[in-house]
Amino acid sequence: MKIIHTINELRQCVQQKRKQNVRIGLVPTMGALHAGHGSLIKAAVKECDYVIVTIFVNPTQFGPGEDFEKYPRTLQSDAAFCQQLGADIIFAPSAEEMYPVEQLTWVNVEKLTSGLCGVSRPGHFRGVTTVCTKLFNIARADIAYFGQKDAQQAIVIQRMVRDLNMTLEICVCPIIREEDGLAMSSRNKYLSPDERKRAICLHEALSYCRTQITGGQTRTELLIEGMKQIPLSNQGEIDYVSIVDPQTLDPLEKIETQALVLLAVYIGKTRLIDNLLIDLNTL
Ligand code: PAJ
Repeated sequence: MKIIHTINELRQCVQQKRKQNVRIGLVPTMGALHAGHGSLIKAAVKECDYVIVTIFVNPTQFGPGEDFEKYPRTLQSDAAFCQQLGADIIFAPSAEEMYPVEQLTWVNVEKLTSGLCGVSRPGHFRGVTTVCTKLFNIARADIAYFGQKDAQQAIVIQRMVRDLNMTLEICVCPIIREEDGLAMSSRNKYLSPDERKRAICLHEALSYCRTQITGGQTRTELLIEGMKQIPLSNQGEIDYVSIVDPQTLDPLEKIETQALVLLAVYIGKTRLIDNLLIDLNTL
């Protein structure tokens, strides 16, 4: 496995591989890798001949006062993890390499980015879609892997690829959780032992919601109120709890067939997100 820091070097490797007609898989990450990222890398290794993992803490997707500076940077252990899983290349550019001059060109997906995380993180998705476009252009992969953990991000990226006729395929992999249900996240590292215990309230709220739906409750107002009252109260400060259409991200009044239940909660200073995809036909 190679660790590459420059765009030119990665382009050369990719060019050689494309001549051999191999299937190239891309796993974009910000590092501090855990089993959630690992599941994407494993899927890529299984389905592709050549796997590129990118590790880049992308400054343009962090807002002022967010955790860009303190975001964990653990390249050495990340590299060992990727090698173990069978990745071929780590692309870990510097911010100067990715943004050598002022970025004047931005990719912005409308509507889908205005609600949910877009409300408390203005500009976040513009940073994500722009950096992913750059990574897609550099890596020229056949398929890129994203996690359902960041459900809105996955939907936004899929729409960008469709709207801009990008030629790669997007694969969305299921959420990987800790034993007690907490969705794995690089930001879990910020939690104190007490906060770590409280953090399971996100999963508990989603489990409560699933049980209510299984019991026949489909009115979203009541489901949301129930989640806010029982599992989430006193555990953290709620940013949002929403039940939306999984394609349009429009809020639903009543669940007819498919729904996406999403929540963002501050546990102490750490903002955590989680979600649950519901399909009444397969519940
Ligand atoms: P990052 O938070 O490092 O996540 C990289 C990928 O891993 C994302 O697609 C995310 O959804 C997935 N992932 C994280 N935790 C997961 C879990 N518990 N189970 C399954 N998948 C999980 O998301 C980003 O980085 C950035 O926004 C990025 C797309 C790299 C652009 O900078």
